[in-house]
Amino acid sequence: MNTKVAGFSKLSKADKIKWLVTNYFNNESQAEETLKMYWHSDQKLQQLHDEFSENTISNYYLPFSIAPNFLINGLLHTIPMTIEESSVVAAASKAAKFWLDRGGFKAEVISMTKVGQVHFMFKGATEKLQQFFKQHKDALITAAKDITQNMEKRGGGITDIQLVDKTDDIPNYYQLHCTFGTADAMGANFINSCLERFASHILEVANTYTHFSEAEKEIEIVMSILSNYVPDCLVRAYVSCPIEQLPTTDQLSAQQYAEKFVRAVQIATIEPYRAVTHNKGIMNGIDAVVLATGNDFRAIEAGAHAYAAREGQYKSLTTATIENDLFTFSIEIPLALGTVGGLTSLHPLVKLALQVLGKPNAKKLMEITAVAGLAQNFAAINSLITTGIQQGHMKMHLMNIMNQLEANTEEKKQLIEFFKSNTVTHSHVVNELERLRN
Ligand code: MEV
Repeated sequence: MNTKVAGFSKLSKADKIKWLVTNYFNNESQAEETLKMYWHSDQKLQQLHDEFSENTISNYYLPFSIAPNFLINGLLHTIPMTIEESSVVAAASKAAKFWLDRGGFKAEVISMTKVGQVHFMFKGATEKLQQFFKQHKDALITAAKDITQNMEKRGGGITDIQLVDKTDDIPNYYQLHCTFGTADAMGANFINSCLERFASHILEVANTYTHFSEAEKEIEIVMSILSNYVPDCLVRAYVSCPIEQLPTTDQLSAQQYAEKFVRAVQIATIEPYRAVTHNKGIMNGIDAVVLATGNDFRAIEAGAHAYAAREGQYKSLTTATIENDLFTFSIEIPLALGTVGGLTSLHPLVKLALQVLGKPNAKKLMEITAVAGLAQNFAAINSLITTGIQQGHMKMHLMNIMNQLEANTEEKKQLIEFFKSNTVTHSHVVNELERLRN
């Protein structure tokens, strides 16, 4: 039964739970128990988690894993990954191990520019607005000085503001297209605060600008917001080795493996249906690091997919080439990540994750995260062009099936042994468990 409720956020946590279980569950005490089962016994820690969001009634756990053996720019890294999909960390670790013996991963940040826009309506002559902007551009930057001064000390700040005429698309619509450096912060709050300051400053000075008519003074600010499309906050990572060092199978020589691999990436470049899945696999690795390090995975996802479609067609974020018997596999992806601010100094596991990574700056975290995406894609394509994806997936999924069937420790041990040489399917596990129990 759906029940309307007023003033819900003001209720105590206990009353919120009471409202939920009485309205949505027949077995109220069981529902309440499930929610409370995940409460932390340390009340201070629980309160910290409660205060991350609104109306929190429990904690939602995700596995926190580590993938060791990542050689990146000559240094070994262990990468923390937060993800529920069973095969992702195994695949990352496998790829890390493979490239460890072949020179490892190389990564470099190409640019770190962030973007924000003030969207507004101006009913008047474009030239007059351009003149107004020219005269007030510096003052706009000065108007945000109290917000920018700390960021400037850390090497960031406002890098430019452009007036953009969008009236061909929507009558009277203009933008302030602003670019920022945000040092080691993701910078969303910084950017949005600057933008809102620009917006209020524009209204203020337009009102007293003598060259504007009364109608022109009536500028309407539609919204001021950062953009999660950050094509100039870009990182590249790659692996490379002589073809002869690539894997071989019964069916494929190293040369054939390289060619098949390149073909698989080409398919993801020209075929959007494949590209989306291909990039989803990349994001398995990226999101896991983004989550473990307390960053905003929705922002990263949105920006990455927009970048994949920047040429008008959705394409692979990775590229594979063979040149002079050298196989190279690379990724280029926008990643607006932060290592200060947000959850980074609040969430104990995020702090731990950053420590495992050697307390990286934003640039380094961009490199590590891009590598995790590339490794994930390498592992996926490797499986797809050789054994198929299900062999590895189902091996890892076996634990989920066994848990669903409530197998005990001894049964699990025997099933794992059995499925080392047998194909995992749900029904096969059911039958085998039944056989064991009988
Ligand atoms: C599954 O989560 C990801 C893959 O489908 C990626 C891919 O097909 O490249 C295995």
